[in-house]
Amino acid sequence: MDMDQETDIGSLVKQSGVHSALYTDPTVFERELKNVFEGNWVYVAHESEIPQDGNYIRRTMGLQPVLVTRARDKIHVVVNRCAHRGNLLCAPERGRKRSFVCQYHGWAFAQNGDLVDIPYPSGCANVDREQSGLRTARVETYRGFIFASLNHDVSPLVDYLGVAKQVLDRVCDLSPVGELDIGPTWVRHLFRANWKMMSENEADGYHVNFVHNSFARAIDQSGKYENILVDDESDVGAVSKYLGNGHTELEYESTYADPMTWLRVKEDRYPEYLTAMCARYGEAQAREKLRCGPPHAFIFPNLFIAETCLVMIQPLGVGETVNWHTPLYMKGVPDAVNRRILRQGEVAMGPSSFLTADDAIIAERQWRALQGAPGWLDLSRGAHRETVTNEGVVQSHYTDETSNRGFWEHYKSLFAA
Ligand code: FES
Ligand SMILES: [Fe+2]
Repeated sequence: MDMDQETDIGSLVKQSGVHSALYTDPTVFERELKNVFEGNWVYVAHESEIPQDGNYIRRTMGLQPVLVTRARDKIHVVVNRCAHRGNLLCAPERGRKRSFVCQYHGWAFAQNGDLVDIPYPSGCANVDREQSGLRTARVETYRGFIFASLNHDVSPLVDYLGVAKQVLDRVCDLSPVGELDIGPTWVRHLFRANWKMMSENEADGYHVNFVHNSFARAIDQSGKYENILVDDESDVGAVSKYLGNGHTELEYESTYADPMTWLRVKEDRYPEYLTAMCARYGEAQAREKLRCGPPHAFIFPNLFIAETCLVMIQPLGVGETVNWHTPLYMKGVPDAVNRRILRQGEVAMGPSSFLTADDAIIAERQWRALQGAPGWLDLSRGAHRETVTNEGVVQSHYTDETSNRGFWEHYKSLFAA
């Protein structure tokens, strides 16, 4: 299929499947940069990563390098490209500065992007200083999660998140003070695959017992996972969900009977944690929150709450993507709980772990095999047995492609005329 700027990208998404060109065509990727990563909300950072006045951290929105900064308690996101001749303004990954001085010719910019100084100013009389600041993004936060959009007319973040606010609430409310704490502990893996292969995979329940079979067997001594593979699929219990606006979830809470199962411990392992949660939420709610545990949910297009890890997806090109992950530490919990979360992250997602390596291999195989225009791919599993909740959440069996169909439905809407 020959793609160009006029091709109707929406015509490549059907209810029953998607066209492979959506993963492999460089023109599609170019158009995604504008319609997905610049025109809409993108997750950029967590407030705890820039706790002090003057802190900054480098991130990207699609291919745009940006700086997320804090100036007098206001958070800004500015494009990290000098307004003079386009030099990368700030090279360190994170730090604390009053202003950013370009190393090429010394122009200086405030944390909000304003141009504040030009060396040897008499020669720059023609430069309109008001108009020569850094490009800025619109910024909104929800419970510490910072989102930005290069489209200042984008709809409010709370509307965009919609029902998915609940998954962010759910993870924050596992802290007895309601706050997360993201440290400088990111690990980055390069995947030679299209970014959407990873976004889809995050809430794909169909692959789990095949791709991650060795992991499932390692953590579950009961033989349950083995039975799922060979026996009745209705035993799984978890649910595949489409939350709207591209946000998806694999809901595991109904598979957890007791508090702290998600930490793979009994509740008496961390009595101080239980006490602090009861003090904040009351005993019944605290126990219920600790039973449900953190969500396994994807916020379109690049944030994944992977239970006790946080994941960001960064596209580098049509066939290159960086998977960032870090443990999701919580404020107000005993150190031992955060250490447990770190250990779980190492086993699940670290460099010598199971899950990331498994998913990387599958994504890269899929990427390689899709070269050469194979055509339409099937995504129809379970479409006949979905139900819709009062909140508009579409849900179905854990192994159904409900979440992925939702992802693509929203993706398609971003290219509507
Ligand atoms: S490119 Fe930044 S000052 Fe010239
Ligand atoms: Fe996976």
